[in-house]
Amino acid sequence: GQVRFLVFSASLRDNSLNTRLAKLAALVIEKNGGTVDFASMSEFDCPSFNQDLEVDGYHPEGAEAFRKRILANDAFIISSPEYNGSMPGIMKNTIDWASRFRPQPFHQHHALLLSASPSMAGGNRGLWSLRIPLEHLGTRVYPDMFSLAMAHEAFDERGSLKDNILAKRFEDNLVGFMNLVEASRHYPCIKKA
Ligand code: FNR
Repeated sequence: GQVRFLVFSASLRDNSLNTRLAKLAALVIEKNGGTVDFASMSEFDCPSFNQDLEVDGYHPEGAEAFRKRILANDAFIISSPEYNGSMPGIMKNTIDWASRFRPQPFHQHHALLLSASPSMAGGNRGLWSLRIPLEHLGTRVYPDMFSLAMAHEAFDERGSLKDNILAKRFEDNLVGFMNLVEASRHYPCIKKA
């Protein structure tokens, strides 16, 4: 069957630039023959992590939802804002909660990281912080990350990137990731939901 990608933005904001980039990634994946499971960060909402809450095997519903969606897909793609040079607190909080399941859901899953920011660096520093917990948990984080600079001016009214060279680079990045995930499906070490 087709390769399945969980795609979501790590921003809760209505007019989020990262949600726009995540939606564009979804379109590009479908255009190239992949299946998209698009999620909203609000579906993964969790209380602030506190080990005292972990009584009788408690996991928040948002963490359970995140775990299920990771396992139901072959790979996940996050478009994340950069807050103060790092990932948003809600993203780390959700990862921490989801890391408490056994088996641990991130292990041996593929991930691609995207970011969008009005700045010239496109929120790229935040992605280096996001790699740390994911790689710690055994996720195969794709080496190429795509960071959209000047994101408030980058999209046309249809949600595509105005700059054709950048649009091609974005598509090439996604297709490279798709090919890796597809090839990896033939390895039995990749567990299935
Ligand atoms: C930001 N922003 C920001 N941008 C950036 O490129 N580097 C940074 O370190 C920060 N820091 C930061 C901290 C906080 C608390 C906020 C609220 C914002 C700006 C950020 O990139 C901008 O608000 C984006 O539009 C947020 O992403 P969404 O919500 O549009 O997807």
